[in-house]
Amino acid sequence: MAGPLITRTVDETRRAVAIARTQGKRIGLVPTMGALHAGHVSLIRAARAETGFVAVSIFVNPTQFGPNEDLARYPRPFEKDVEICTAENVDLVFHPTPEIMYSPSFKTFVEVGDLQNVLCGASRPGHFRGVATVVLKLFNIVQPDVAYFGQKDAQQARILMQMATDLDLPVEIEVCPIVREPDGLALSSRNVYLDAAQRANATALIRTLQALRERIDAGERSAEPLLRLARAMLDATPGARIDYVAIVDFDSLQPMDRLKGRVLLALAVYFGATRLIDNVLNDIK
Ligand code: PAF
Repeated sequence: MAGPLITRTVDETRRAVAIARTQGKRIGLVPTMGALHAGHVSLIRAARAETGFVAVSIFVNPTQFGPNEDLARYPRPFEKDVEICTAENVDLVFHPTPEIMYSPSFKTFVEVGDLQNVLCGASRPGHFRGVATVVLKLFNIVQPDVAYFGQKDAQQARILMQMATDLDLPVEIEVCPIVREPDGLALSSRNVYLDAAQRANATALIRTLQALRERIDAGERSAEPLLRLARAMLDATPGARIDYVAIVDFDSLQPMDRLKGRVLLALAVYFGATRLIDNVLNDIK
């Protein structure tokens, strides 16, 4: 099976996309940091189903990692990633170096207002500035019609939708459902860091979200008892350390006392040095 075209520079990427455009194809982009798993594959399949030319970017973006985060040890199984892209019939893999993406004179960053400083942004200062900046660069390089992101990174998706609206970007942002292990753990490239005990206890995230969902389905509309329940469940989980438990309005990402409208239940929990996130988005009348 012929594999995807692998490009490393802006010019060769633009040339390949321009040819696809002259063939009348719509361009789908799946931005990733590699270490592809079934969650990424679901994004690639959505792109394959909806567009005629599928590009996957694989770039571990240094500007979205804090000084004490896992940039150096972040998994980079590039050959395996290309095998997955080949099996999924991807047309192009853009795999630039940090030097290609960030020249020594680089100075411009994208800030998406107060959306970037709450939830994950509160414990990862600068993270979403790095994400928004690299995604805007990827949009400018690939010029996709549609770009695909996972709901697991709900705040990232919300921020990128805001950026696309505010900056009049001619790209549709499509957010695809979370893909889970059979026991409910949300797929993440960081799950490989978990030891056996942490991996077993990590199902506490989905169990907590399900418990909140059951209370909401039973009629609970007050945030406080739900937050208390979530904290109690996570505090009782061996090895878990809560980063945040939040019930926020999905539009503003601000906390809400009474649940109404598009409500995001979101968790971030450390197991050792590994920080896991998960969420459920509810539409509440
Ligand atoms: O979600 C990710 O993998 C990254 O944040 C992204 C969107 C590829 C930007 O580096």
